[in-house]
Amino acid sequence: MIEVRNVKKRYSSDELIVKGVSFTVKPGTIYGLLGPNGAGKTTLMQIMATLLKPTDGQVVICGKDVSVNTLEIHKKIGFLTSEVKLDPLSTPNKLYDFFAALYDLPKEGYEERKYKDFYRFGINPFADKRIVDLSTGMKQKISICISLIHNPPVIIFDEPTNGLDILTSKQVTDYLKDLAKEGRTIILSTHIFSLAESLCDEIGVLVDGKIVASGSVKELTELTGKDTFEDAFFELYTKNHKE
Ligand SMILES: Nc1ncnc2c1ncn2[C@@H]1O[C@H](COP(=O)(O)OP(=O)(O)O)[C@@H](O)[C@H]1O
Ligand SMILES: [Mg+2]
Repeated sequence: MIEVRNVKKRYSSDELIVKGVSFTVKPGTIYGLLGPNGAGKTTLMQIMATLLKPTDGQVVICGKDVSVNTLEIHKKIGFLTSEVKLDPLSTPNKLYDFFAALYDLPKEGYEERKYKDFYRFGINPFADKRIVDLSTGMKQKISICISLIHNPPVIIFDEPTNGLDILTSKQVTDYLKDLAKEGRTIILSTHIFSLAESLCDEIGVLVDGKIVASGSVKELTELTGKDTFEDAFFELYTKNHKE
């Protein structure tokens, strides 16, 4: 379970970038933070993942305040951000083993999972190739496997399909659906309304640091009286965005 309670964030200037955001994500569901560039998605995801402290408010994951129980929270979350860079001279196998050691995973347990995860994403044929020689999609899939290496119950993915072609993107979204079926709690951010529409059980539309509406695709579409989710999203955006 993720509970975000009235979170506010201000960087160095006076302006609040995140202006009091609250929502709850239940186990077995995928929550999507949908908003344009600059809405504050990455800021919120980083606060949830303990990388940034909120100016006000609280994030509670599995019953614990994330800013107080940082180390414990790291074991419970799998965090993916587009800014993570894999060592270009390493290989998928070496990186996986490095992170498995970091999390103290027993070798017997993780070797099998590594093979299965790599197999699912078609990484095995590239497992001993240098990262620098791999495609963007392959690197993203490796990052995803590594971010979930410790089998966390809570998954926080910032724009997980950014820059991926549709086939790779589908592999990632199918994986996220399976993880939700296993009962994990998943939050992702995206600026792509069609991704939110096809993947998320609940969507929070984030505009200028505020959630201006939330609900299922059906609820948001009905709320705006539009025929499609695309129109509903643009309506919510134009109504709430201040130039
Ligand atoms: N470290 C920072 N210092 C100051 N301003 C920042 C910093 N990081 C992000 N911002 C600003 O906060 C706003 C929201 O950014 P961000 O959370 O990255 O949004 P999104 O992920 O939705 O595109 C932007 O206006 C951005 O310029
Ligand atoms: Mg972002």
